[in-house]
Amino acid sequence: MSAVDHQWNFATPAHSHPTPAPERAALLQNPGFGRVFTDHMVTIRWTEAEGWHDAVLGERKPFLLDPATSVLHYAQEIFEGMKAYRTENGGVVLFRPEQNARRFNASAERMGMATIPEELFVEAVETLVRADADWVPSGEGSLYLRPFAFASDVFLGVKPSSSYIFCVIASPVGGYFKPGTPALTIWVADGYTRAAVGGTGYAKCGGNYAGGLAAQAQASAHDCDQVVFLDSAEHRWIEELGGMNVFFVMADGSLRTPPLAGTILPGITRASVIELARDAGHVVNEAPYSFEEWKHDAESGKLREAFACGTAAVIAAIGKVRYAGGEFLIADGKPGEVTQHLLAKLTGIQRGQQNDEHGWVHRVV
Ligand code: PLP
Ligand code: COI
Repeated sequence: MSAVDHQWNFATPAHSHPTPAPERAALLQNPGFGRVFTDHMVTIRWTEAEGWHDAVLGERKPFLLDPATSVLHYAQEIFEGMKAYRTENGGVVLFRPEQNARRFNASAERMGMATIPEELFVEAVETLVRADADWVPSGEGSLYLRPFAFASDVFLGVKPSSSYIFCVIASPVGGYFKPGTPALTIWVADGYTRAAVGGTGYAKCGGNYAGGLAAQAQASAHDCDQVVFLDSAEHRWIEELGGMNVFFVMADGSLRTPPLAGTILPGITRASVIELARDAGHVVNEAPYSFEEWKHDAESGKLREAFACGTAAVIAAIGKVRYAGGEFLIADGKPGEVTQHLLAKLTGIQRGQQNDEHGWVHRVV
């Protein structure tokens, strides 16, 4: 972090009715994903005239929005997903938060929105984590952090907004998938694509997720946990899942993952997995992989494992792939050795149980 650290003053009005400790403890028992929220939120405003101003750490409450607020019409909105972890010694850490700040600004630029100084983004997240530190679960859970920004002009003309609201909220979470899911069943999107070259695929904007929901519903209707999208030009190359990147582990021990070519989200977990796998001696190829190859390699045994990865999902084995014409298993359909090793390594670093050789862990409390 640079010398400009802590230059931002957050107003901190007192919370009138924080959650009593016994109620919080009950909520932390089995929070699921994204349903339980902490007491506070951070908001910061941006206008053309004043830049970023009016930073507040206040109680979590609804926004009052005019019906003509531009985000409600044209979806000029971006977000991030990151987690705070409780370490074994009781501290609280973030994982590579500067990477989220950097990606947030890449998304902002793509969506024609104001960028935010990276140190302000990180400080906003740290400020919320410190205020709500008692909400960080111990054990396997974590505190999911959702920084986001949206166009706040009250205007129906189509143009980049001249005002934005940045906000961070927090949600204690357990696993993303339903408990007892040993390996995911993935649905290959049929008739839907997620992103095209020159589009917004690499940005973390709400619209990408809205556009993927019909395909996710198709996945659920086929009893699948997640959807995987193929490319929009040839409907052939594997891109990513609705909310995760994807890796393949071959019989020769090498890993393959689709390259960053503008249509997929550059996952921070993806980047970390590539480094951890290389540390462990695996060759990692960022190279296109087609659905035909995937099916063929799974059937021939050339493909040993596949897994999804992302902040919410962490690292989740893929056991079965279902598509409009049938389905196939990956090996015996159970989590493979390399997948389990990478999961243990990543979560070990995040929770302070393993040496943080890359300096990824960022202490907050
Ligand atoms: N791809 C999509 C579409 C996502 O929503 C996510 C989750 O944020 C990822 C990939 C993984 O990104 P990360 O590892 O930074 O969470
Ligand atoms: C995340 O992993 O942070 C995401 O935004 C993905 C979503 C499936 C929750």
